[in-house]
Amino acid sequence: MSPENGVSCSLENYLALPDNSMDDRIAAARQRLGSTTVLLGHHYQRDEVIRFADFTGDSYKLSKVAAETDAKYIVFCGVHFMAESADVLGRHDQQVILPDLNAGCSMADMAEISQVEACWETLERLGLASDTIPLTYMNSTAAIKAFCGERGGLVCTSSNARAAFEWAFARGKRILFLPDQHLGRNTGFAMGIPMEQMPIWDPWGLQGGQTAPALNASRILLWKGHCSVHQRFLPSHVDEVRAKYPGIQVIVHPECRWEVCQKADALGSTERIIKVVEDAPSGSTFAIGTEIHLVNRLAKQFAPQGKKIISLESNGCLCTTMYRISPQHLAWALENLVEGRVVNRIKVRDSVKHWARVALDRMLEIK
Ligand code: 13P
Ligand code: SF4
Repeated sequence: MSPENGVSCSLENYLALPDNSMDDRIAAARQRLGSTTVLLGHHYQRDEVIRFADFTGDSYKLSKVAAETDAKYIVFCGVHFMAESADVLGRHDQQVILPDLNAGCSMADMAEISQVEACWETLERLGLASDTIPLTYMNSTAAIKAFCGERGGLVCTSSNARAAFEWAFARGKRILFLPDQHLGRNTGFAMGIPMEQMPIWDPWGLQGGQTAPALNASRILLWKGHCSVHQRFLPSHVDEVRAKYPGIQVIVHPECRWEVCQKADALGSTERIIKVVEDAPSGSTFAIGTEIHLVNRLAKQFAPQGKKIISLESNGCLCTTMYRISPQHLAWALENLVEGRVVNRIKVRDSVKHWARVALDRMLEIK
């Protein structure tokens, strides 16, 4: 096997060791790599990993850092679609590493390029494609981003969805929004689009499970995808925390269902959620509807400032794929790099890269 596939410094040897034995090794490898390597950490990463990140952020912020860094190696502690986007946005001489290739995103897996192409063919057959702009959430494969780029569309994240929707509506009558129906519905509703004009496209249904008149009348066609982590937050949870903690503020991620978002005080990307907590006065209390590692970190960080933070769902909702990036995987990836071996490289095919880059650049230009 070539060094790029990484067999030396066997991963199995690392996985047998305890988490805390990795700290010194990660720090030492990081130091030896110096400015050749930048380590990006999404807010859902566990503490034992994110503490080593040079930059932390939501998917928008991290994609911007990836587009701007001079480092030769970008080690992405996040999930697959984030690493793919970094590769698309990076230069040819940069290499992106995902410490565990199993760190995917179940929502991104809910839209396959062949299904999206079949949907588009139906829209073409019905004469609807020419005034439809395909817009994909960052949580999607590079192939889907490229699909959107090639057809005059773009990418958005939860921090710029509204601006991206406005961009699209300035160019077409209708948006095909992939793959998160909830972010699409929450954004469309906030823009005043009636629910009946936001039908769901079911990739497993005949003609998406819709009639031709319903598709024709649609303003936003919502792909039937969701985040299973954020679906666990329910409207009853909002009622419960409000009853138990009078004055509590509820902030949720817009991947939550519409009924939850309607009851919340604020919606926002992970970066925005942090900002709301940061800007709040001492004595504030928050129930947060997003991944548990971020919620627990905020609770610890802001307790000394007299801010109380709890999870909106008392059992806490874990993103198991984000959790796959362990200190052992990180140490393994970094120590291999020190030895000159690139393991777990994420490389998007050149044929896909071009249009995916167009779609991502359009997003970066609107915000
Ligand atoms: P953010 O862009 O808000 O960090 O969200 C990414 C994500 O996957 C949320 O589930
Ligand atoms: Fe994907 Fe949901 Fe995990 Fe975000 S929290 S990475 S959308 S599975």
